[in-house]
Amino acid sequence: MVDRYAVFGHPIGHSKSPFIHSQFAALTQQSLTYEAILAPIDGFEARIRSFFSRGGKGANVTVPFKEQAVALCDSLSAEAALAGAVNTLSLLADGSIRGDNTDGLGLVADLVCHLGSLQHKRVLLVGAGGAARGCLLPLLSAGVGLLVITNRTQSKAKDLVDIFSQVEEGIYKDRLQALSMPELTEEFDLVINSTSASLAGELPPLPDSIIGSATVCYDMMYGAKPTAFNQWALQQGAVKVIDGLGMLVGQAAKSFALWRTVEPDTTVVLNLLREKLSSDI
Ligand code: ATR
Repeated sequence: MVDRYAVFGHPIGHSKSPFIHSQFAALTQQSLTYEAILAPIDGFEARIRSFFSRGGKGANVTVPFKEQAVALCDSLSAEAALAGAVNTLSLLADGSIRGDNTDGLGLVADLVCHLGSLQHKRVLLVGAGGAARGCLLPLLSAGVGLLVITNRTQSKAKDLVDIFSQVEEGIYKDRLQALSMPELTEEFDLVINSTSASLAGELPPLPDSIIGSATVCYDMMYGAKPTAFNQWALQQGAVKVIDGLGMLVGQAAKSFALWRTVEPDTTVVLNLLREKLSSDI
């Protein structure tokens, strides 16, 4: 029987994961199927367990189930445990379910692709929701020199800094800071927008002073046209803006590698998705 994979979410109709994973399978000559499954809001765990009992080998989990997925895992990666969210489930040889979170790893892979290395970079992370939390450990592990978190609701940024300052006996403590938006005065090498503001065409109220002529800006959102945040960044003189399409493909590549032990090249799929997006205008 062909190995079976799927993405579970609600809604799920617009998921690009089936396209991405079938492209990866073709590229790496792996024989598998990958489908999109709409899980009932109150029936996620039952749906997942039935999938694994009927030959499912691995699954991606998307909104709104990433936090619920943690509870059904027998073991978790450090990224998933710290993010408090799982986007990748794998059925292990002993029948147990392992949870990983590849979102932040996908982001870092995309950033490294664009910038080379993240070592010593001064980074501003805007937002303190699930998307921000999921990328903290991968950014810190990638060697960023300073990671400032800012959020509309400042207490949430402070909570994240408190949590991650205690990780691994405090090795990241000196590189982490929470600042309110008005407290931001200096330029950053990299500004990452993890908020959902762009979905509504809105902007977090950030001061212009954070963007200098060498600042790169990254919006985890993406669309046919530049996001509101990336448009604003260009107006402030950012040297480069990047959207989150590469992160989407990057996290999928990391999931695929966990399941199939081969990491697919992301360039071809990313170019195909970019073409599809542009034709949506
Ligand atoms: P996700 O899991 O996608 O991160 P979330 O947990 O709902 O979603 O978090 C959304 C993030 O976007 C939060 O940081 C939120 O700020 P608050 O904590 O103050 O709610 C941020 N956000 C959403 N809309 C925003 C807006 N219009 N301006 C600024 N921040 C916004």
